[in-house]
Amino acid sequence: MKKVLLSGIQPSGRPHIGNYFGMMKQLVDLESEYEVYALIVDYHAMKSVQNPKEMKENIMAVLLDFLAIGLDPKKAIIFKQSDIAEHTELAWIFETITTMPYLMRAHAFKDAEAKNKEIDVGTFNYPMLMAADILLYSPDIVPVGADQKQHLEIARDTAEKFNRIFGKTFKLPEAMIMKDVAVVPGTDGQKMSKSYNNTIPLFAEYDEIKKCVMSIVTDSSEGIPKNVYAIHNLLRPASELLPLYEEKTGKYKELKEMLIEDLEKFIAPMREKRKEWEKRLPEALKILKEGSEKAKKVASAKMAEIKEKIGVNINI
Ligand code: TYM
Repeated sequence: MKKVLLSGIQPSGRPHIGNYFGMMKQLVDLESEYEVYALIVDYHAMKSVQNPKEMKENIMAVLLDFLAIGLDPKKAIIFKQSDIAEHTELAWIFETITTMPYLMRAHAFKDAEAKNKEIDVGTFNYPMLMAADILLYSPDIVPVGADQKQHLEIARDTAEKFNRIFGKTFKLPEAMIMKDVAVVPGTDGQKMSKSYNNTIPLFAEYDEIKKCVMSIVTDSSEGIPKNVYAIHNLLRPASELLPLYEEKTGKYKELKEMLIEDLEKFIAPMREKRKEWEKRLPEALKILKEGSEKAKKVASAKMAEIKEKIGVNINI
């Protein structure tokens, strides 16, 4: 029996190289070794996407993205959250055993509160739905970027609490956070994030790559421009880069041009593959449908066990 790996991404806009190195790449690298579940979390994305046309396009885009990075539908199960009602069903069950003060410690909630934002219940309960996404499939590992570490801890705590109350039901998943890419920096040196406007899109065209790289913030007092180097280091090891950066000390434009070429070499094959998949959209949609059917079987078997444990199953 293969070990199980699961991870998810919100269909809330174009993925960036932070998503790729932090999470997506691990799914492809490990798809032969693990049974891989690649989840499109559309209900989570409802927090920011509240336009049906945009939602549809975003879901299809993530599906094509997964295929374009090289996920093999024969090995990986690509599926979407809204196809499997067990996710929201289990989230409710978890909510009944979780306290408000516990969820009030979640970073996303605390950030929103600190900014005096009007917080929706979905944002507050977000970690419960994520715990359900994970625990329904009993994964051994969940590859994520460092920003999801707390969510993984909440999933583990919730599994433990449920097991304590109702008897052993859930396996405790391990977060898999790759050290060197735990927080991929953006063009301004902060964490790369759609909301900071500092991303390099994963399927960017050459001109867009150029524009993003040219906008990388540099400081004239640095010998090695650290923000340029940090992104470059995703593509090439320090042993190759440091001599180059030392040779070109202070020549920011030349270093940025090198980075543009390296990014283009890395992105172009995936970009081409994505264009191919765009032409095969019906086939891609069939892959998603079949993925959701496979995942549904696993989720409904687990839900039957959960219902038995909590005592709502009164069939004799
Ligand atoms: P999301 O959609 O924000 O991001 C998808 C994945 O990309 C990682 N990531 C990064 N990694 C390194 N550096 C960065 N700059 C960077 N930016 C994003 C994220 O850590 C994430 O792994 N809550 C999740 C979605 C989710 C999920 C799940 C994940 C819902 N259910 C179950 C795993 C398992 C999220 O919002 O990811």
